[in-house]
Amino acid sequence: MENYNITTLNDFIILKQKDFPYAKGELSSLLHHIGTAAKMVNKKISKAGLIDIIGSSGEVNVHGENQQKLDVYADQVFIRSLLSSGECCGVATEENENEIVFSDTNASEGKYVVCIDPLDGSSNIDFNVSVGTIFSIYRRITQRGEKVRNDDFLQEGTKQVAAGYIIYGSSTMLVYSTGFGVNGFTLDPSIGEFCLSHPDIKTPEDGSIYSVNEGNYIHFPEGVKKYIKYCQEIDKDSVRPYTSRYIGSLVSDFHRNLLKGGIFLYPENEITPKGKLRLVYECNPIAFIASQAGGRATNGSISILEIIPSSLHQRSPFYAGSKNMVNKIEEFLHQYR
Ligand code: AHG
Ligand code: MN
Ligand code: MN
Repeated sequence: MENYNITTLNDFIILKQKDFPYAKGELSSLLHHIGTAAKMVNKKISKAGLIDIIGSSGEVNVHGENQQKLDVYADQVFIRSLLSSGECCGVATEENENEIVFSDTNASEGKYVVCIDPLDGSSNIDFNVSVGTIFSIYRRITQRGEKVRNDDFLQEGTKQVAAGYIIYGSSTMLVYSTGFGVNGFTLDPSIGEFCLSHPDIKTPEDGSIYSVNEGNYIHFPEGVKKYIKYCQEIDKDSVRPYTSRYIGSLVSDFHRNLLKGGIFLYPENEITPKGKLRLVYECNPIAFIASQAGGRATNGSISILEIIPSSLHQRSPFYAGSKNMVNKIEEFLHQYR
């Protein structure tokens, strides 16, 4: 008989509810609904090459980017699932210019708001490359029963109650944290459950991978250019040169570096002076996971988690990963500022 000694995501969520002495299970229910939506999106993605779902939906999202059909699908699935959880009173997503306020009486009583990048790395979808979902959960500032407001979503990253990502890769994983370490669950397609496969993930303090779109090199700030050269040099202990790895899917690049040790860089450059990645639903949740795993994330000057967002879709330079590597890039940025 096979070994059925498994802990499913739902077992684990219930088990961990005791970490929150006054919790009534609302967060558990929310995470459970995110897991369910992830399974639906996963199913669709795994068929992307088979059915007429790939390619552009012909619509343009709030950033003027061509929306892929799966962007739209994932956006709807997560929004509906969060609404039906009854614990979430509003959502901010990459695909919608303004926050979505759940006015349904049940949902407006919900304690939490969710910020989400429903499909990250979506330009890779047509080529069978891993994509992801990134999410972040905050306790609302407004009173329960009131209409949520913009500032419910514009809280600094340190206020995250939970955050995580799903990677739709060679296997599908859900990685999340409620502020008590990071745990990873792999989807077992035969039973349709996320099973605990990576308990208490810790990222190495030193890594040997650097991940950056080097095609933009010419436009990078001097400190980043010098850091990249540093990564490529031979040192006396033969730790360097580091390995360069870049998928172009934040979730996938970060996930690999989280497990192996490395740094992900998306600097500001002359073309995108604030960088590309979005603070609220890309940088903050990833920074939360990095720091819960013993790593760090910075915009080059301050910790990502300490930035007070001023708008939902604001961008930020982003450097995240192994602690000592992030410290090093900060040194370079400081020195060549
Ligand atoms: P999204 O698909 O949600 O718009 O995000 C794409 C992001 C991120 O996943 C990745 O790290 C980055 O874009 C890659 O950008 P470049 O193609 O400029 O390297
Ligand atoms: Mn993204
Ligand atoms: Mn996206």
